[in-house]
This record gives sequence, structure tokens and C-alpha cells, in this order.
Amino acid sequence: MAWEGAGSAAEIREEILKLGQRYLDAKGVAPFVPGETYIPCAGKVIEGEELRLLLDASLDLWLTAGRYAEQFERELPKRFGLAESRLTVSGSAANLLAFTALTSWKLRNKAIAPGSEVLTVAAGFPTTVAPIVQNNCVPVFVDVDLETFNVDASRLEAAVTDKTRAVMIAHTLGNPFDLGAVTELCKKHNLYLVEDCCDAFGATYDGKPVGSFGDLATLSFYPAHHITMGEGGAIMSNRASLMKLVESYRDWGRDCWCAPGMADTCGKRFQHKLGDLPYGYDHKFTFSHLGYNMKATDMQAAVGIAQLDKVDFFIQRRRENFARLTEDFIREGLDEYFILPKATPRSEPSWFGYLLTLKDGLKFTRRDAVDYLDQHKVGTRQLFAGNLIRQPAFKGVNYRVVGDLTNTDKIMNDSFWIGVWPGIDDERRAYMVQTFKTMIAELNR
Ligand SMILES: Cc1ncc(COP(=O)(O)O)c(C=O)c1O
Repeated sequence: MAWEGAGSAAEIREEILKLGQRYLDAKGVAPFVPGETYIPCAGKVIEGEELRLLLDASLDLWLTAGRYAEQFERELPKRFGLAESRLTVSGSAANLLAFTALTSWKLRNKAIAPGSEVLTVAAGFPTTVAPIVQNNCVPVFVDVDLETFNVDASRLEAAVTDKTRAVMIAHTLGNPFDLGAVTELCKKHNLYLVEDCCDAFGATYDGKPVGSFGDLATLSFYPAHHITMGEGGAIMSNRASLMKLVESYRDWGRDCWCAPGMADTCGKRFQHKLGDLPYGYDHKFTFSHLGYNMKATDMQAAVGIAQLDKVDFFIQRRRENFARLTEDFIREGLDEYFILPKATPRSEPSWFGYLLTLKDGLKFTRRDAVDYLDQHKVGTRQLFAGNLIRQPAFKGVNYRVVGDLTNTDKIMNDSFWIGVWPGIDDERRAYMVQTFKTMIAELNR
């Protein structure tokens, strides 16, 4: 079929952008049918604006990080009251880059050396902890609290030794960990703090955004998270010197900080004398670290820009779903069977999921519950890795446990979470609560 639309490149471009919305309108959204439509515990809310910017970025044919990535890196940290951010390929990459930056020789005696200990928890996502091991350091695990599923901060002091150099923990499921106690500990023992905020975009502690308390903070933009770009992540900080190191590790380990496609930003591209290289060796090809290439593309960033505009609404919906589920569960007496989640004191979470832990002595198991919910189309997930040290990946890893991990094991055995993401509306939530009621009636006989 011959193209009958407008003629100039700019007009055709606009036509293509509009067609995106027309395509979505024509595709429509399937109606919710209780008991038939699956309710996943996480998901993305993607609309016309995301598609428009994605198409726009594609039509640039720039493909690597470009104008949208730059805009995203500028706008993102403002939401956290922070100065800088770097976009990367995932939350896991953000964690790896953040921790690895702290091992840079450029930090001299402040660098985290191999064999150093890093305080963390075993109830969580593996790639919060993996970077510690990948940098030949030793994760030191302390137990968590069952209601907040976050680090039991009263156990941290006993875990500190003369080898301890950092704390790296996630704000689990959007509930901030005890930032008061943790930042005090870091100050007292001169420890770095890396806040994994992958699940907690928008959560606050003492009214301040999580991510603004530590030396470095990380985010994930995988579809399950508060905002998405498919795959993506970011590192944020107020500390320009650390961000330069993050950028170096992200961008092949290079010493130069030129954006993709740029050269001579420093004005001295051929005037450096670094390492054993000859004077004037191209700064763009001078490498100060053994790095990676973990840059994201402009298409990802474009989707992120559209999502950033909606993040306040997304966070509000997550909070509302959480509050109403709690009200409904208490009204229906479900707190007799489950330990319900609680916000950490002094915090306002930005909930990622709704974690339920089976109380002891019930007539059904976690397996029975998640099977029942799954059969009735209510999606569930377990708290990521459960207890990391029981995972096959941790066989042979050099780690230390301080005290016991009783609650971590309880979570591994008896907890699961359901969704609070913005795609869950009143109808779906009512169905979820109803399904919990019938589940208890059937399983706890
Ligand atoms: C706490 C936490 N950290 C890190 C990650 C890793 O993020 P990504 O999937 O983008 O690599 C996740 C993933 O869900 C997470 O929940």
C-alpha cells in the first residue's frame, strides 16, 4: 500500500508518534473477570506517552545513551533531593557499580579492600549482596524483624569488627530499614552506606527520601518496580567524586567522562600523562579501572522519562492499596492467621508488595496458601531469595553470620507477598480479599 500521509520528515515523524496512541486505543484493554483474569503481584502501567517517547527515541536512531538518558539522569535525582545520577542497565548493575566504585584505588586509604566485611541481611534479593562477594569482600548477615522484614538494627553493633567497612542493605518491599540506627552506626564506625532503593522509590524516613541518607543509592526499573523502562537501573549520590568512579566502572573503566559520541569535554584530551602511557595518550582511551559497559540505551531512558511524570500517582496508588488491604484484612480477622506488614517507625513506605507471614500452628502451610491463591488467579511471590545462605549460589562463599537467622528462616518458610501495584484497582482488591476469606474457610478446617 502506498504511503498517503504527510510528506516532510518532521510530519511523517509526528504521524508515526500519533499512530502509537491509535494502535494502543485499537488494541484496548481486556476487562477484569473475577476468578478468570490473573492478578499478578507486580506489573507495569504503560500508556500512550511511554510509547510516544519510545518511538521518538527510536526515530532518532541514536540508539545508545543520548538526549533522553541525559534528561533522565538530570531529573531523577531531584526527586530524591540528590545532585547526581547515572543510568545503567539494571538494579543489579547499579548495585554492582555502586559497591565496586567504593573499591577504587582512587579512594586511596578510603577504598574498600578485598577481605573487608560488609553488614547486610540474608532475607532479600541476591544482587544486593552479590557485589560484595564479587569484589572479594565478606558479607556479614544479621537477622531481620518479622513485621518490617528489615534488618533488626539492634543486632548490627555486635556484627562490627575492625574489618567492617560498609553497610549495604535494601529497603525491603518499599519499607525503609531503620535509617536512624543505621546512619548512626555508620557515623560511629566510619562505614560507607549503600542504600538499595530498588523496591522503595518514593519511600521516606523522617520525611526525607530514602536514598538520600547513604553514600550511594540504587534503583531498578525492571517492570515490577515503581517505574519501569523494561530493563534499567540507576545509581544516585550527592558525592560527585564517587559518581565519577561509578561512571568509570559503568563506561568500560575509562578515565574520561565524555558522554557517548562526545570528545574532549575536559579540554585536555591529548595532554594527560597517566599510568605508564606516553604523554598525550588519548584520554578517551585511558582506563583507570577494570570496568564494564553497563550503559542503557536512549529508548529505555525515553520510557523512563514518561514514567517519571507519573511516579507520584504510582506511589499514591501503592500506598492506598496497601492501606485498604490492611483495613480489609483486619476487618475480616485475617490477622489471626497472618503476621501483617508494618511500616518501620518514623517512615512512610512506598510499598512494593504486601508481605504476609503465616503464624505458627495453623492447619495449612505456605505452599497450601500460594497454591490456593494461584488456582484462584491471585499471584504471589516469595520474599526473593528467602535466606540467601541456603541458596545453591552461596555454597562455598566466604560469609559470616552474627547471631541466628531465625526470622530470616521463618520468612523463607512461611512468607509470601501479593500485589499493591497501580494496576490493582478496587475491583481486583475486593476479589483478592474475598479469595483470602474463602481460602481460610477451606484450608484452616
Ligand atoms: C531489592 C532489590 N535489589 C536489586 C534488584 C535487582 O534489580 P534488577 O532486576 O533491575 O536487576 C531487585 C529486583 O527486583 C530488588 O528487589
